[in-house]
Amino acid sequence: MAEESAALIRKAGGVAIQAPSMREIPLAENHEAFAFAEELTSGTYDIVICMTGVGTRHLFAAMETQTPLDDLVAAISATCVVARGPKSAVALRGFGVPIAVTVPEPNTWREIIAAIEKSANGRPLDGASVALQEYGVANTRLEQALRERGAKVRTVPVYKWALPADTKPLRDAIAEILARTADLLLVTSATQVRHLLAAAAQDGCEEQLRHALRELAICSIGPVSSESLAELGLPPDFEPARSKLGGFVKEVAAKAADLVDGKREHLRRRAAVVEQTASSAQAPGEEGLNTLDDSPFMLACRRKPVPYTPVWLMRQAGRYMQEYREVRARIPFIELCKRPELAAEVAVTAQRRIGADAAILFSDILLIVEPMGLGLRYVGGEGPSITQTVREGADVERLREVDPFESLAFVADAIRTTRRELAADIPLIGFSGAPFTLASYIVEGGGSKNYVQTKSLMWRDPGAWHAMMETISRSVARYLNMQAEAGAQALQIFDSWVGCLSPDDYRRFVLPHTKAVIDALTPGVPVIHFGTGCPTLLDMQASCGTAVLGADHRVDLDAAFDRYPGIALQGNLDPVVLFSSPPAIVDATARVLASAAGRPGHIFNLGHGILPATPVDSVIALVDAVHELSAN
Ligand code: CP3
Repeated sequence: MAEESAALIRKAGGVAIQAPSMREIPLAENHEAFAFAEELTSGTYDIVICMTGVGTRHLFAAMETQTPLDDLVAAISATCVVARGPKSAVALRGFGVPIAVTVPEPNTWREIIAAIEKSANGRPLDGASVALQEYGVANTRLEQALRERGAKVRTVPVYKWALPADTKPLRDAIAEILARTADLLLVTSATQVRHLLAAAAQDGCEEQLRHALRELAICSIGPVSSESLAELGLPPDFEPARSKLGGFVKEVAAKAADLVDGKREHLRRRAAVVEQTASSAQAPGEEGLNTLDDSPFMLACRRKPVPYTPVWLMRQAGRYMQEYREVRARIPFIELCKRPELAAEVAVTAQRRIGADAAILFSDILLIVEPMGLGLRYVGGEGPSITQTVREGADVERLREVDPFESLAFVADAIRTTRRELAADIPLIGFSGAPFTLASYIVEGGGSKNYVQTKSLMWRDPGAWHAMMETISRSVARYLNMQAEAGAQALQIFDSWVGCLSPDDYRRFVLPHTKAVIDALTPGVPVIHFGTGCPTLLDMQASCGTAVLGADHRVDLDAAFDRYPGIALQGNLDPVVLFSSPPAIVDATARVLASAAGRPGHIFNLGHGILPATPVDSVIALVDAVHELSAN
C-alpha cells in the first residue's frame, strides 16, 4: 500500500518519504519448511510444538507446495502435538490435527514445559526429538529449557516477510530520520519497524536510529502495531479511532501539528529536567515541571535543604507485604518482572502503602544475565540460580554484551508505566547490579558464602576477569542509560556482595569497572552507589564519581558526612531493628537522624533490604517516624 499511503499523505499536505520495508517471501522459497516436511514425514519427531496460529498456517502452506497435505497431516498427527495457545490450537484443528497438549495461560516457556511434562499422552522430554515452530521471534529460553531436559531440538523458522531485495530506499529513509528531517513516523505493521531496525543494525546505526525515532511523533494504525511498538521500546504517540488506512492518514494529518509540537514540548521538558538536576543552583520555575525535581528525595540527592528527611527502603516492594504475596501467588517472579503493568502495580502499591518518598522500579538485578546468554531461574525459597556459569576465559568469550533496547525493552516499558501511575511528586529509581555483584552471580551460579569460584577466576586469570568485567560494565551502563531515558529520575547501583573483597582486590579488580559505569551514565541523573558489609571500601566507592553513597548500619553516619563533604548519603538503619518493638524502632530511627544531624543530603534508608518476615506495620511506623522526627 506504499503508493496509496504516499498519495494520501500528499493529499493531506504532507511530504512522504517512501521506504518499502517488507518483501513477501514466496511460499516456494521456504527451504526450512521443506527440510522440515521431509523429516516430519520420515518420522523424525516425537514432539512438535506450534507456537503461533499465523506461523502454523504459513508453515503448512509452504510445506504443501511440495508435499500433499494429507501426508503432512498424517505425519504430524503421529507425533505428540503441542499447541502453545488458543490461536495455534485453532490453526491445527483447521487441518484436522489432534492436539495432545494444550498449554495454559500465560503460555510462556514455563507453562509449555510443565504442560508437556504433566500430560498423560505426552512423551518424556529426555531423549525426545522436538520440532519447534518459530515465527517472528526466536524462543531461546524455551529451546534451552528443552535441551536442559535432554531433548533434541530443531527450530523451524518460517517467515512470510523479509527485507526488500533493494534496501536503498529504506537506508535513505534511515538517513533522513537520523538527520532529523522527518517529523512523524506512520506505522501500519510492526514488521515494518522490526525491519527498519534490522536494516539500521546491518549498518551499525541501530542505537542512533532508536534515539532519533524517539524524537519523532510515532503514529500506529492499531492496537496490534502499538503493542509491538511498545515491546520494541518505541511506544506510539498516537493511535486512530479506527484501524483503516485512509482514516489513519486523515486523523494523523488533522493532528500532525499538535502531535509534533507535543513531542517537541515533551523532549524540551525532559532536557530541562536533566539540565536542572545538573545545575542544582537553578531556582524552581513556575511550571509543574519542577514537581519531581523539587521533591525531598531529589533535593536530598543534590544536597539541597529539604522540608523533612526523605525515606524509601530497599526491597520495599517484596514478600513482607501482603499485597505483593497475593500477586505472587498467581504469577511467577520473572513473569512479574516482565509484565510492565504488573511490575508497575507492585512498585506503586508498595510506595503508597508505606508512604515512601520515592519508588523503585520493580525488577531484579539478575534479569540482565539472560540476554548475556545465561539461564536464570528462581527456585522457591532458595533464591536465584544461573545456568551456563562463567568459569574460565573461554566462557568469558561467549558472554554477550547486552543491547537493552532489544532484550530488556520490558524494563523501559515498566519504567514508563510506573512513572505514569506514580504521583507527580514521587521520583522513580531505576537500578542495576554493580559489575562485581553481577560477576559473582555469573561465576558462582547463585548466591555464595565464600565466593571461591569468583575469587579464583579473578586471581588465576586477571585477563579473563577484566574482559568479563568490561562486558558486564558496558552492558550495565547502557542498561542504566536506557532506564534514565525511559523516565527514571535516579539510578542505584547495587554492589551487595562486594564486602567479601580486601581493599587491595577491590582497587585492582573492581574499582576501575564500577567507575567506568558511573562515568558513562547520563549526566544530571543522580547515581546512588550502594554496597553493604564493606566499610573499609567506602573511600574508594566514594571516589567513583557518585552523587549519593549508600552507607549501611556498619558505618558511622556522622563521621561519613564529615569525610565525604560533596556526597549525599543514603542509609543506615539496621533492617533487623524492624523486628524489635515500636518504641525501639522510634528510638533507633531518632539515632540515625541524630547522626545525620539535619545536614543536607541525607536520604533515610535501611542498611540493606527489608527482610521477608518483617511486619508491615513496623515498616509503616518507621516511615512515619522519619517524617515526624525530621520535619522542620
Ligand atoms: O522494592 C524493591 O526493592 C523491589 C525491586 C528489587 C528486587 N530485587 C525484587 C526481588 C530490587 C532492587 C532487587 C535487587 C536485588 N536482587 C539485589 C540487590 C539488593 C540487595 O538486597 O542486596 C540482589 C542481591 C538481588 C538478587 C536476588 N533476587 C536474590 C538474592 C533474591 C532471592 C532472595 C530474596 O531476597 O528474595 C531475589 C528475588 C527477588 N528480587 C524477590 C524480589 C521481590 C523475591 C522473589 C519472590 O517473590 O519470590
